[in-house]
Amino acid sequence: MEYKIGVIPGDGIGPEIVAQARKVLDRVASLYGHTFAYRELLLGGACIDRHGVPITDETVEGARASDAVLMGSIGGDAKTSPWYKLEPKKRPEAGLLSIRKALGLFANLRPAVLYPELAGACPLKPSLTEGGFDILILRELTGGLYFGDRHTAVENGLRTAVDTLTYNEEEIRRIAVKAFEIARKRKHSVISVDKANVLDSSRLWRAVTEEVAKDYPDVTLSHMLVDNCAMQLVRDPKQFDVILTENMFGDILSDEASMITGSIGMLASASLNDTSFGLYEPSHGSAPDIAGQDKANPIATILSASMMLRYSLDRQEEADAIDRAVSQVLEDGYRTGDIMTEGCQLVGTKEMGDRIVERIRKD
Ligand code: IPM
Ligand code: MG
Repeated sequence: MEYKIGVIPGDGIGPEIVAQARKVLDRVASLYGHTFAYRELLLGGACIDRHGVPITDETVEGARASDAVLMGSIGGDAKTSPWYKLEPKKRPEAGLLSIRKALGLFANLRPAVLYPELAGACPLKPSLTEGGFDILILRELTGGLYFGDRHTAVENGLRTAVDTLTYNEEEIRRIAVKAFEIARKRKHSVISVDKANVLDSSRLWRAVTEEVAKDYPDVTLSHMLVDNCAMQLVRDPKQFDVILTENMFGDILSDEASMITGSIGMLASASLNDTSFGLYEPSHGSAPDIAGQDKANPIATILSASMMLRYSLDRQEEADAIDRAVSQVLEDGYRTGDIMTEGCQLVGTKEMGDRIVERIRKD
């Protein structure tokens, strides 16, 4: 098969980690007889440098013409980068939000898995994580505070800023349906996270989620307030299977969940629309402080490529081969700096990519 893959290397460590994921995909291609035709697309700071804006029609059209898009990371150091002297709408992050909206990528899957080999890097007490955990955060990605009306003005002589949190029932229903469908392929449990003791939008979220649950009698639905969820993630992470939540809560909880896995450098993500198309990116940022130094962990991007094979291209075997290779390289004891522990072998970005390529085998 030939697949068209849009590639957004992005900023900071983006280009180096994406290069490793491409090596891995090329190895999969030669082993399994596929062709990946890559088309590079500009987004974020790299796009600002070329065109003065963080996204262009060419980027969106290029993504639309692809079967899936693989992305590194975008953005720079807000204190020192000239990109952050621009008005908010022209900064790198605005490009990311625009592409999510333009492609209708409403479902953001962020798995937080504790690898047994990395248990030592987890900051929680071993008694809390014994046997590991496997959480899937499903974050609504095109609604809520991120896309509601906002403005800053002087009102009654005071500088006043307004952001609006809006959800309609359709937006809630489609993400809830995704949560239940995903839970069916996992441990059949959905915990929906909201702030229903305060917010109207959360009360609607709860009501619609319960309506959807009626179609999934085999899946257990429970509700948890977001402040409690933040606490439960560090108190008893093993209680979670699928966490379903709105955009802003998901942004915050997914960073927290990544931390308890030991390294944000390990976590992949998929952003899907209602077709098989998706945008795949590591959950971490562009780490400008270590960019270009061969220090970044490419595993989150490599695992994002595996999610791409699984969810957009329906190549399960190939995705399994990548996941196995990553586990084996960790078992072999190779570590980038972020996941380094005593007794392991420290490697750079490229070597980590090479080790994973070497370990890819057909089942
Ligand atoms: C993320 C990031 C983005 C978000 C930023 C870069 C706009 O934090 O993907 O989690 O808030 O969605
Ligand atoms: Mg975030």
